[in-house]
Amino acid sequence: MVVVRAITQALAIALAHGPTTARAYEFAWGFGGSSYQTEGAWNISKDVSVQDYFYHNIDTTSANADTTTDQYHRFRDDLALLPQLGATLYRFSVSWPRVLTGCTASVNQAGIDFYNALINETIANGAVPMLTMYHWDMPQACFDQYEGFATDGIIDSFLIYSDLLFKSFGDRVKYWLTVNEAESNCKFGFQQGRLAPGFKNSTYQATIDCVYRTHLLHGYVVQQARTNYDAVAKGWKFGFPSNVNWNEPAVQNSSDIAYADAQNLAYAGWYHDPLVFGTYQADTITAFIGNAGNQDAVGRAPPTFTADQQSLLAGTVDFISMNYYSTSGLPTSDELVPSGAGCGLENNCWQFPWAQGIRKMANWYYDRYKLDIIVTEVGFAAVGEVNMTVSEVVDEPTRLIFWQAHAAALAQAVEVDNVPVKGMLVWSLLDNFEWGYYDQKFGAVLVVGLGETGGSLERVVKNSTYWLADYYQQKNYTN
Ligand code: NOJ
Repeated sequence: MVVVRAITQALAIALAHGPTTARAYEFAWGFGGSSYQTEGAWNISKDVSVQDYFYHNIDTTSANADTTTDQYHRFRDDLALLPQLGATLYRFSVSWPRVLTGCTASVNQAGIDFYNALINETIANGAVPMLTMYHWDMPQACFDQYEGFATDGIIDSFLIYSDLLFKSFGDRVKYWLTVNEAESNCKFGFQQGRLAPGFKNSTYQATIDCVYRTHLLHGYVVQQARTNYDAVAKGWKFGFPSNVNWNEPAVQNSSDIAYADAQNLAYAGWYHDPLVFGTYQADTITAFIGNAGNQDAVGRAPPTFTADQQSLLAGTVDFISMNYYSTSGLPTSDELVPSGAGCGLENNCWQFPWAQGIRKMANWYYDRYKLDIIVTEVGFAAVGEVNMTVSEVVDEPTRLIFWQAHAAALAQAVEVDNVPVKGMLVWSLLDNFEWGYYDQKFGAVLVVGLGETGGSLERVVKNSTYWLADYYQQKNYTN
């Protein structure tokens, strides 16, 4: 049913626009996802992850992802959607406890076989695989041994894990993301304890130290790849996905502009300065310590890197991996999606996605770092979808407004501003488990009965996704 509709749609697109010639601009678009949020099969040939343990034993009132979309069993059908939509880039993450037993005790061949099949299927469907090494689901055994990212013990065991990934998948994978959204992982998982593994520490200093440790971990992983796997000659590309809002001044006067600049630096500079320059630039430190945009960080400086650490870290990202969802501040553009009752940035209703923010963020990154950019996540979940019927979700109108505005703004970054944005990944291919809940439907494809006992889990492509496929077909960028 879904397939027939997609083919019909593709034909309609081809007929409407006729053959087009490729633009000489390299740009790939596609979709992302992560292991815990989509795979399910939590105990099939797999050890317990911190996520499994957390939702089974610590946060027992929230939902869990034991089954979620069941992509473990359905990945072939899911990946077959890529060519139907004209998508050529696919981001997924490896579940560490699927490929290693214990923390790092021994290789689990069944897990390696699974990811081999997934990677091969991605390529067979004409897409480039982008592998996230860590999307928050380490083995519980690593947490039991050394408290995960809360101590330096993480670095040695992660290097055993990354070595296995390079050895097993490096013949086909070129794009590697080390740790997804380090600040989210550190803050929610290892300081506030709101997400797995539920580790609590009273001050934001723990988050700052954990991000510092994650930077070093990233540096060692890239060093391992370049030293032992000839990564540069192979053309491997490394990224460090950042969770950064764009901060827009309410009024274009010098004090509001300076305030917004400081907010941008306190996050985006914190993330990427060390991996480009080896250390923080002075303006980042000033913004970080004094910036009201990251209230928690006020008065705290990130630890300084030693000279050896600086040479380890400098130049370890080959592109800026940009996750973008929203703009903070008081943008007044009429491109804003109308907000739902009671929703705001504060309570994560994702209702202030200001499209020019994605363009401005891309410009900001390029001006500062002069590196290619790949938008590794951009996405939208409309308010109240949990109460809608399947066809209402498929036709949900604000989602279409979101994509029309964001695709156009990203194209402006490329075509008007000449920023080298080389790709864009919709978060996410499927509606999935949104860290405790199933009520935010970010997917380009709806999953029927997701999170319900006995749900059919049938996939239905949303109409806004067909619009996006049509948009990129018309753009006809090269890959
Ligand atoms: C950030 C995370 O990488 C992803 O796991 C999450 O689902 C989305 N953003 C939306 O919240």
